[in-house]
Amino acid sequence: MTELLAANEPGIARAAALLRAGELVAFGTETVYGLGVDATNATAVARIFEVKGRPRFNPLIAHYPDPTAAFADVIPDPRATQLAAAFWPGPLTLVLPRRPESRIAPLVSAGLDTIAVRVPGTEIARMLLREAGVPVAAPSANPSGRLSPTAADHVLAALSGRIAAVLDTGPCQVGVESTVLDLIGEEPVLLRPGGIPTEAVAAVIGSTRLPQTGGTVRAPGMLASHYAPAASLRLEAHHVAEDEALLAFGAPLPGTAVAFNLSPARSLTEAAARLFAGLRALDAEVAARGLRGIAAMPIPTDGMGLAINDRLRRAAAPRTTLQNC
Ligand code: TXA
Ligand code: MG
Repeated sequence: MTELLAANEPGIARAAALLRAGELVAFGTETVYGLGVDATNATAVARIFEVKGRPRFNPLIAHYPDPTAAFADVIPDPRATQLAAAFWPGPLTLVLPRRPESRIAPLVSAGLDTIAVRVPGTEIARMLLREAGVPVAAPSANPSGRLSPTAADHVLAALSGRIAAVLDTGPCQVGVESTVLDLIGEEPVLLRPGGIPTEAVAAVIGSTRLPQTGGTVRAPGMLASHYAPAASLRLEAHHVAEDEALLAFGAPLPGTAVAFNLSPARSLTEAAARLFAGLRALDAEVAARGLRGIAAMPIPTDGMGLAINDRLRRAAAPRTTLQNC
């Protein structure tokens, strides 16, 4: 039985106690719901991979209540300190060298000598992390290869009965995962576009450009077919057929009765916050009505648009057996 906990003092206390006991607890952050576990408890961490059906070489992000706690497990350089001051708490994850004395289970970072750390933006999440008193590893709380959850009932729909509890913190405001930045080398590398626009990150560290990773599994989160709905997804649609569902942005294309509008006002922030819910809703419509698939209208690539387009491309990628989460 999965406990549904309210985001109040007793709920947070219960969630924290379950985490300390090595249980899996989903909780909301400003980005998406995470499936949390005590990052120092290797057995508990292994259960995350099991429950998610996630390939083992995908490292997880460790979550902390404040920057001081985060930098106790990794070694920050001046860029990390500047970025933390600018964006934490908030949707930025930093990959940094692991401290030799860190108690984080190696499985968290898939055996790498680096750890991805983040301080989530919501007060409730940080209260939970403070009360848990341990670093919390938390991938998005979805089965591997499926959509990331942005509400407690998304988590329950997929994982009910398989995890100890869900702390219901309401809908997630940002709606796409954190921006992941690798600060291991001399040149910072963007491993995953996300909730903090790349332009903003580059401005703080004075980079003129921020290279994205290429094909290697340095950044396992970059595997194809990541954010996959069950329905097929056609991108950059300039027309839509009667037997397709439309993922609209701005004025919707005419031609189908089944549509979800990410943002009638063309706000990329609103579109990001509604993206996974929209794909989820259309996915259900396609199945219920026997439609051909989802057609997505073009979405600009500036600001949050980069992360949205990244998610859409992964969702549209040919399905492989090597699905990430
Ligand atoms: O917004 C978020 O980041 C959410 C919420 C729950 O915090 N979490 C999340 O976790 O999206 P997950 O596990 O779905 O994605 C973690 C990403 C993956 O792309 C992974 O490859 C990368 O971070 N990552 C984690 N540790 C890494 C490391 N040591 N080196 C390189 N990449 C790493
Ligand atoms: Mg994920």
